[in-house]
Amino acid sequence: MKILAFESSCDETAAAVVEDGRKICSDIVLSQIDIHHRYGGVVPEIASRAHTEAICTVYERALSDAGLTIADVDAIGVTNRPGLIGALLVGVNFAKSLAFANGLPLIPVNHIEGHIAALYLAHPELEPPFLALIMSGGHTSLVEVKGYTAFSLVGATRDDAAGEAFDKAGRIIGIGYPGGKEMDRLAHLGNADAIPLPSAAIRDHDYDFTFSGLKTAVINYAHNKKQLGEEICPEDLAASFTAAVCRGIESRLKNALAAFPHRKLVLAGGVAANSHIRKTAEQVCSSCGASLFLPPVSLCGDNGAMIAAQAYYNFKAGITADESLNASATSPFSFKF
Ligand code: KG4
Ligand code: ZN
Repeated sequence: MKILAFESSCDETAAAVVEDGRKICSDIVLSQIDIHHRYGGVVPEIASRAHTEAICTVYERALSDAGLTIADVDAIGVTNRPGLIGALLVGVNFAKSLAFANGLPLIPVNHIEGHIAALYLAHPELEPPFLALIMSGGHTSLVEVKGYTAFSLVGATRDDAAGEAFDKAGRIIGIGYPGGKEMDRLAHLGNADAIPLPSAAIRDHDYDFTFSGLKTAVINYAHNKKQLGEEICPEDLAASFTAAVCRGIESRLKNALAAFPHRKLVLAGGVAANSHIRKTAEQVCSSCGASLFLPPVSLCGDNGAMIAAQAYYNFKAGITADESLNASATSPFSFKF
């Protein structure tokens, strides 16, 4: 079954064709980073307009790269939640029109579930149940994946998302938006013990995260340095910040792997590209006797292939929509318990 799916929840306009949830036939991502870079973050209205301009192009290229026409496609998938409402609506309306003009089933996909499904594309042997840590610009959640469409939330951030924290710390250092990738590089060059920063693990819960205290600590540190007329060492700050994030992740993963029977752990989302976090997860898994499944960096960030992969499993579970399908900015999970 070939599914053509669209992703437009934030600042990437993407379309892809995936066969049977596992084989990528095409995967087109048009990033808006260059547009938003000058504003230091995503401007929602500009994102919506840029999606409108790009959606036809990604649609045509996804089909032509796969060597297909719309007549060869069996269903249309689309991210309809969560994300920027105007941005989501571009993809949802395009997908709806395409599905009903061509008499094809329409399959709604939760963006977070899509990030998890990116792993099915990279690891043919991976099947639920497993634990998944999803860290993106907007979300940080530890999830028990009980089945392809059955999820249970284990832990989550109480405030900011991991990617947001990387981007904010990056901004303090003077890195442009989004700062995550450059923070990753700088952290390899600095001293992780140089600046004492609080862990990203929350104290009164085994699985939850907090990033706002860490962010405030970085802001206060930068402020103090400025008042003293001293320079910040970007490498040391990036290394110390990353170590604080990794300490939090290490404790949450150890607790979860001890409490749940699953011996499989998945990392997903844009921040799963972070080399230090990947190493931390490797160390935790080897100490707990669990297998670690990492997405290739190309599938960590937002893309259409992950949406098409999850759309396949949604379709098999009977999750389809009609022309009344709407987008939702705030429902973070469609997880069924
Ligand atoms: O999943 P994603 O592409 O978009 C959302 O769904 O939000 O995640 C984007 C986030 C950004 O905050 C970006 O800075 C972060 O992922 N990111 C990284 C790295 N690469 C991307 N964060 C830390 N280390 C990286 N190597
Ligand atoms: Zn995402």
